[in-house]
Amino acid sequence: MKAGETLRAVITGMKHGGEHAHNIAARGDMKLVGVCDLDAGRARAALAHEQIADVPVYTDHETMLKEAAPDVAVIATPVALHAAMAIAALQKGCHVLVEKPLATTLEDAHAVRRARDAAGTVCQVGYEKLSSPLMHEVERIIAAGRLGELVVMWAHEFRDVVNIASCAWRFRREDTWGMFFDCQIHQFSLMMKLAGADFHRVCAFGGPKGRCGPHETALPETVSASIEFANGIRASAALSQISQTHQNDMFGFVGTDGRIEVDPYFPEGPGSFKLYTAHGLYKTHTVVDGHKASHGHIGSTEQYDRLVDSIRTGAPVAADLRNAIDTQRLMKAFELSLAEGRIVKREEFTL
Ligand SMILES: NC(=O)c1ccc[n+]([C@@H]2O[C@H](COP(=O)([O-])OP(=O)(O)OC[C@H]3O[C@@H](n4cnc5c(N)ncnc54)[C@H](O)[C@@H]3O)[C@@H](O)[C@H]2O)c1
Repeated sequence: MKAGETLRAVITGMKHGGEHAHNIAARGDMKLVGVCDLDAGRARAALAHEQIADVPVYTDHETMLKEAAPDVAVIATPVALHAAMAIAALQKGCHVLVEKPLATTLEDAHAVRRARDAAGTVCQVGYEKLSSPLMHEVERIIAAGRLGELVVMWAHEFRDVVNIASCAWRFRREDTWGMFFDCQIHQFSLMMKLAGADFHRVCAFGGPKGRCGPHETALPETVSASIEFANGIRASAALSQISQTHQNDMFGFVGTDGRIEVDPYFPEGPGSFKLYTAHGLYKTHTVVDGHKASHGHIGSTEQYDRLVDSIRTGAPVAADLRNAIDTQRLMKAFELSLAEGRIVKREEFTL
């Protein structure tokens, strides 16, 4: 595609899709040419909320792909629908931005990759933090060796379940099995990227509050999880999805000479981090991009910069299918560990 051309975009799934509509409408190089939701009223309400006029509303994804003939399809439906909808769009020659997690099974995740390879178009996954200026700065600091050697990563996520109680699919094991798999997965995709290696083994404890596991199907309301990466870096994560004090998206990176802490609830705002160097004695607080960031959604705007750049120039996308599939496999290992109460190794997976 040539510079200056406008990309025609459609969105399927108009709840979180409303944020995508907001991002697309704000760009001069993209135009929304259709939105789709089983609930047409919800789609119209989302467009009205974003003050976007004259966009056709569809209730069927494939009909919209055919009639609106988009260059870009954004998929923001429940996770079990992601793979089939992304593949349908890729087979029509569209570029795709598909929300996270990529799929509910590794088989489906690989099917999306094969469809992308066959189409030769761009496919980016909604791990928006990977596009954020904050994470680019963190990656730059780590790559420059300012933390010394990276040894430990951590992530904390305390969610108020009221936020997501309306989505039945988020609680079923065959869909995403709670906030650990649907939301904290953002932080695991970061860890996979920054570790620079696949996982070697994982162990996770979790289940309903106050009940010891393992739990085959019970919802992991609270989780404590550990990862050992193949290069010896270790990571831990803690989640409560029943917290009365909602505070999500806190994570950190610890090296031999320093550490970084990211917390969107710092008074300086969600686009900032603290850097401790010289063995914890020297501290700076850097605000990277406070005005663009929102709680829990850093990189949401910039993921479109990366997508359009990739479409125009062939540059790699920030959140690619390799990272999404590696993260999916890591989550499958956690799922097995929670259900069976054992350490799960990378070598158990052939996909
Ligand atoms: N990147 C992020 O930070 C972020 C934040 C929120 C949600 N998400 C992701 O976005 C996706 C949607 O999440 P949500 O909270 O909006 O879910 P939701 O269940 O609240 O909304 C999904 C919407 O999709 C519609 N839908 C369902 N089946 C459909 C079909 N066959 N055709 C057309 N529309 C259909 C529903 O009517 C609903 O409006 C999920 O993958 C979620 O993980 C990502």
